[in-house]
Amino acid sequence: MANETEVAAGVTDESVRAALATVNDPEINRPITEIGMVKSVEIAEDGAVRVAVYLTVSGCPMRETITTRVTEAVAAVPGVTAVEVELDVMSDEQRKELSTLLRGGAPEREIPFAKPGTLTRVYAVASGKGGVGKSSVTVNLAAAMAADGLKVAVVDADIYGHSVPRMLGVEGRPTQVQDMIMPPSSHGVKVISIGMFTPGNAPVVWRGPMLHRALQQFLADVYWGDLDVLLLDLPPGTGDIAISVAQLVPNAEILIVTTPQMAAAEVAERAGTIALQTHQKIVGVIENMSGMPCPHCDEMIDVFGTGGGQTVADALTRSVGATVPVLGSIPIDVRLREGGDDGTPVVLAAPDSPAGAALRSVAGKLGGRQRGLSGLSLGLTPKNKF
Ligand SMILES: Nc1ncnc2c1ncn2[C@@H]1O[C@H](COP(=O)(O)OP(=O)(O)O)[C@@H](O)[C@H]1O
Ligand SMILES: [Mg+2]
Repeated sequence: MANETEVAAGVTDESVRAALATVNDPEINRPITEIGMVKSVEIAEDGAVRVAVYLTVSGCPMRETITTRVTEAVAAVPGVTAVEVELDVMSDEQRKELSTLLRGGAPEREIPFAKPGTLTRVYAVASGKGGVGKSSVTVNLAAAMAADGLKVAVVDADIYGHSVPRMLGVEGRPTQVQDMIMPPSSHGVKVISIGMFTPGNAPVVWRGPMLHRALQQFLADVYWGDLDVLLLDLPPGTGDIAISVAQLVPNAEILIVTTPQMAAAEVAERAGTIALQTHQKIVGVIENMSGMPCPHCDEMIDVFGTGGGQTVADALTRSVGATVPVLGSIPIDVRLREGGDDGTPVVLAAPDSPAGAALRSVAGKLGGRQRGLSGLSLGLTPKNKF
């Protein structure tokens, strides 16, 4: 372990460790010195340094990245003539310690976003039926907020649809550190989906209690770190999972996606009933597929009629007794569909297209509501923020 007095060629153990403290684990995003990844530091007479690093798991996909980062950081220490990195793997005991550390010593199964004083805004995106663009809206809002510098994650709780990873172009799979799950990310958005846990994307026919457990695990066992915003892509309708969300994250606010043509009253009534029962706030309505710019003229073609979003918002306002606004209307845009198909949301691929601009505007409204993080901490808050 550390030999405080070791000095060779002007290189101190302290200076090497200070350099290592600037190296973050690429997945956990905390200094490797803080999470028990530095096994040993040896400094030779000629200034050559040998650092042994513990990987969390043996097949760690980040081994190259870690080696490079450690080499670069230590090579920059004055007096160091060479750097050698040796990799080792944590024992079960060490992994357990790490997972306790990452949880901030909190007991298992606690959902950080449900704790009083949480700084993460949780939006549960809901709709009356499928195919209205709920997932498309979710991923675009997430990507737009991440592009604005917010820390954002999406939980694909649409157990039957799970289209979020494809729409965001997420290719990695979650990695596991003891009983913590590290989510993959794309476009700066962390993503967990039930699809990542089913071989070959097999359709999942799970019953309510299993869905509840899956959602609980996504929320409690995934290492999310500090988040400004968490978006939950719910299955259509107001089934078990909506109730589960209300139980697991009572402070989640509901975001309704509808088309202009929807059986507006029905959607509103159902969402309103659930919200009243669960005391959840409905943050607003997003009308999707509201018109299509005519390719031959300047007119908008109202493919699915008009006014559905406003009708839903008005009905909800009456039923919950608080103003429910229409947050935006997203036109039909081929680029939105293409963006979903190739994994680059339209807010990034064509930010100034009508659909891209409308979605960015909604993201600005929802993201702008986040509270400052400075000086406050979550159960899982890393000590260093950047
Ligand atoms: N505004 C839009 N313009 C063009 N295509 C859209 C729009 N919104 C959604 N789509 C397309 O409609 C289909 C259904 O959208 P999706 O987001 O999967 O709906 P849901 O999650 O509600 O089932 C997808 O192919 C998507 O690309
Ligand atoms: Mg969907």
